[in-house]
Amino acid sequence: MVESGGIKLDISGLDEFLRPGEVEAMSPRVAAAATSLEDGTCPGSEYLGWLDLPKRITDAELTAIEATADRARRDTASYVVIGIGGSYLGARAVLEALGGPAAGCPEILFAGTGLCSATLDRLLTRVRESDFLLCMISKSGTTLEPAVAFRLLRAELEKKYGRAGTAERITAVTDASRGALRGLATAEGFETYVIPDNVGGRFSILTPVGLVPLAVAGVDIRELVAGARAMREACRTDELTANPAHLYAAVRNLLYEKGFHNEVMSTFHGDLQMLQEWWKQLFGESEGKNGQGIFPASTVFTTDLHSMGQYIQDGRRNLQETFLCVREGVGGLSVPGPDAGDLDGLNYLGGRSLDDINWKAYQGTKQAHLAGGVPCTSFEMESLTPHTVGGLLYLFEKAVGVSGLLLGVNPFDQPGVETYKKEMFRLLGKR
Ligand code: PA5
Repeated sequence: MVESGGIKLDISGLDEFLRPGEVEAMSPRVAAAATSLEDGTCPGSEYLGWLDLPKRITDAELTAIEATADRARRDTASYVVIGIGGSYLGARAVLEALGGPAAGCPEILFAGTGLCSATLDRLLTRVRESDFLLCMISKSGTTLEPAVAFRLLRAELEKKYGRAGTAERITAVTDASRGALRGLATAEGFETYVIPDNVGGRFSILTPVGLVPLAVAGVDIRELVAGARAMREACRTDELTANPAHLYAAVRNLLYEKGFHNEVMSTFHGDLQMLQEWWKQLFGESEGKNGQGIFPASTVFTTDLHSMGQYIQDGRRNLQETFLCVREGVGGLSVPGPDAGDLDGLNYLGGRSLDDINWKAYQGTKQAHLAGGVPCTSFEMESLTPHTVGGLLYLFEKAVGVSGLLLGVNPFDQPGVETYKKEMFRLLGKR
């Protein structure tokens, strides 16, 4: 068990699956991977800007983002964030984990995450009658899905405000000099923020990609960054069992080497579903290459215990499970009772909090899955705050860097993503 920043990593569920001393024996391999990250000699070293990002973010940068957010809060009830993959998942994950926009802040709507006409049409109908602002996020500035959504949403704004009024309602987050979005922003005079060259999309949550929408939603971005900064320090030590990121990377690789090729992240909190999606992108895109990689999947319990539970309990034994659990949720509901007659048979739960019942469901599920031959690792938190979530984000980023290097891949590129684009653009006749 290692604890840092309110996050406990418990690997006691692996006792049956790993030999004594096996984790400690990973220490030299993990240290070599971590050293090559820290000294910038690993594959993909041109994309290591995320490593020290929490420390490099300046007060002036945060102040500028907060000023953009204050203006947005004054000017609109709806803030539409356009982006896909690494330019979308982080902001949505953090926002949902923290329970959505704060009181008095605009609703945050997401667009550009696909090419489904019905989805986009619903969004256009929703914002058409009201006032809205746009935040267009694309590092390359050329990604098709957000570019299409941006063109449609800009057209809606132009009908209402003309070209100049539209430009005042748009913030663009993109590369400093390259790409169509940068050219468009310069030509039209949008407010802009820069995504640093050396930070890849899935590692960009602590750049303006994540910080601008989160600040608009009233999230305390200074606390988020502070949590990441503290976790950066906690994840520096070479003592494997005291370093949560390194320990997690080590055990999931040990299990992979024993044939547990799929990792299911399970949570009992619906608010963490998008964080699981962010985690899936981070790990899947970083590790799935050269015929290698742990396949990341996710389940939200107890819902999915009634659908995927059977497979996890009893299906092919190639699954490792990582729980992401919070003891105290938001809402504070308890089961009413006791009830005269107890006709629904629930009096044994009368007066107990749902958080308590949910925690017991987690503990019972973990016991059952362990007994079914699933190695289980747990991340446990008392509650979710911007500080804890910032720490969690950094912990997973550091873990995937080390884990990908242990697997022997470059964790910081994504050459496979280009293949579908090439085929799609050929069919669409792009020149
Ligand atoms: O992690 C990645 O690099 C990708 O998921 C990108 O973030 C995604 O494809 C969007 O790219 P862009 O920001 O260039 O529009």
